[in-house]
Amino acid sequence: MKDRIRNYLYSATPRAYYSILLNAFGFNALRAFFYNKLWKFKGSFNFKADDEAVGTLLEEGVVVIENFLPEDQFKEILDVYKKQELNEKYTEQPEVPQYASKQISTPMRLYDEKAADIILQNKRLYKIIEATARKKINVFPKMTFEKFYADRKEQINGNSPEMSDELHYDVPFNSMRAFLYLKPCNESNAAFVYGKKTHLYNSKRLKFEYYDSIKQSVKRRAIKCAPLDKIDTDLLKEINYEPTDMCGKENSLVIFNSMGMHTRGKFKEIGAREALLIDFRTLDTPLNFWMGVPVINQALRKVASKF
Ligand SMILES: [Fe+2]
Repeated sequence: MKDRIRNYLYSATPRAYYSILLNAFGFNALRAFFYNKLWKFKGSFNFKADDEAVGTLLEEGVVVIENFLPEDQFKEILDVYKKQELNEKYTEQPEVPQYASKQISTPMRLYDEKAADIILQNKRLYKIIEATARKKINVFPKMTFEKFYADRKEQINGNSPEMSDELHYDVPFNSMRAFLYLKPCNESNAAFVYGKKTHLYNSKRLKFEYYDSIKQSVKRRAIKCAPLDKIDTDLLKEINYEPTDMCGKENSLVIFNSMGMHTRGKFKEIGAREALLIDFRTLDTPLNFWMGVPVINQALRKVASKF
């Protein structure tokens, strides 16, 4: 029950709704059309920011900002991370554990005030997100310490049990997420991979949304709760998908638009990718609309703090 309420409160609209008929009539493509037209319209009169990271993020869908936090703040976050007991999330595959995580905030509650506050008080990050998502931030970002790791040979270049290394996009509208690398990250230890400019909305993307939504819904009809199918290479070619490893030293912040194609990179040697995921997807929950009303905002936070 708690999980269902939490899901309702914190889940943004999904990548596509899986009805073959609706998608064949163009429902998913139309949804993408309206979301993106609205986003463009908002940008014509508001949400400007004087930061070159905003320009890069709008143009390429991804940006890496090195030395993002002041040294003392980064050290503080690192100290909190080192003390965390990360949960093994994928206990159903105990023979191939590859991912451990610990959430430190939800959109309405902070579990670790010390670490979360450093991010929440970062005016630059907030300005970049507001200028690119074109929404006022009225919820806490969901923050999670994440550790992906390969500690055995079969995990190197193999497929991850939790499918984080499968190429995908999250939603058909502009939605921002960020990784703060806690340790240096490169091609050999699963750096984040992004297809620059694949976040752009245009007629090719609209066609992509149309075909992909039908393809995925056909698969779901055949096998209930099936994981999403791989994105067709010809569709990827049409939107000029070229993977780029987003490498960075520790304290690099990778901000990306999750409408673009992305994946976790593969491990090429035994090692780990350690990062703080800062997720602003909840700006797009239906509930977030109500969060803009101060009285309702306070009441919802009170209720949500119990879950
Ligand atoms: Fe994703």
